[in-house]
Amino acid sequence: MKIIGTGSALPSLVVTNDMLADFLETNDEWIASRTGIKARRLRSTETLVDLSVSAARSALESANLTPDEIDFCIVSNVANNYVTPAMSCIIQQNIGSHAPCFDLNGACAGFLDAMEVAEALLKTNRATNILIVCAEEPSRFCNWKRRETCILFADGAGAVVVTKGNDLKAIKLTTTPNRDAIVYRRRMEDVPFEGPGVDVTEPLSMNGREVFRLAVESSQRDLRAVIEEAKLTPDKIDLYLLHQANLRIIDSIREHLSQPEYKFPTNIQRTGNISSASIPILIDELYSSGKLKKGDMIALSAFGAGFVTGAAVLKWTK
Ligand code: UT7
Repeated sequence: MKIIGTGSALPSLVVTNDMLADFLETNDEWIASRTGIKARRLRSTETLVDLSVSAARSALESANLTPDEIDFCIVSNVANNYVTPAMSCIIQQNIGSHAPCFDLNGACAGFLDAMEVAEALLKTNRATNILIVCAEEPSRFCNWKRRETCILFADGAGAVVVTKGNDLKAIKLTTTPNRDAIVYRRRMEDVPFEGPGVDVTEPLSMNGREVFRLAVESSQRDLRAVIEEAKLTPDKIDLYLLHQANLRIIDSIREHLSQPEYKFPTNIQRTGNISSASIPILIDELYSSGKLKKGDMIALSAFGAGFVTGAAVLKWTK
């Protein structure tokens, strides 16, 4: 595959750490020093569909393609208001595309899952131009009465268009089954043959320290594996675009790989953690501001609830 178009959309509402300290027992110093986050964007006047459609349209425009030239659409999403139909159908209805489509839930690693599936579809001649949209609104399942998770997560959408090419040098997904490290459960409808209250809604809960440890361990392991598979060394990678989960996690992975800070561009300071959308949003922002150069060798890595991980090495040729 190769990436031929990028797009992203962030909500208009900026929520600073001080705004959270108005109703939670927290403060700017704690959040900034533990996570790197100074502010985040939260959905207010826009819907997740609005953001996704805007990111998808930008990616199509950047790829110089019309919606009817897309022959597959994959959407990565953890949860949204529509259980069915799939978000990919709703996005396609809005942009006017009739391609086969489906959603996948790879938690914060969903962009890597979508790339893996897209690569398989391209290699087996099932598709030529694939639209990938990562659309996330974790603000809608955090617990806003407690300070643990809502300080971290934020909303937004990122998209890429991929087509046939030789830019993907290696990709690897892993799973270490772990139900409890990050979990969100929602209640379903009552059924007359079962007592009430069997299904419960539990807002997102997370064992932050365990996730931190799993993230650093798995990400540096995955990165080494894909870099080796691409017949490169960490020094030969120009940019490491990591899931924007926590600045300290990114710093720790960087230190494990003994790489300089300038190779790890970040936007988490102003965006917060946008789950699977974080990497495609970062890619779009870097490309739009001229910071991705033709020929750059890029390493991607993400991890999330499950516990799932993914990493890839990609040559940038757009
Ligand atoms: O996208 C992937 C998903 N998630 C992640 O990548 C998250 C990975 N983990 C993390 O980012 C960090 O573990 C957190 C930022 C979530 C937490 O940082 P930490 O350094 O691991 O803090 P902690 O959970 O060990 O808590 C330390 C203290 C506790 O107080 P005590 O028990 O020491 O008195 C917490 O109650 O900080 C307290 N605390 C807070 N204080 C102020 C927890 N949350 C907050 C808060 N503001 N928001």
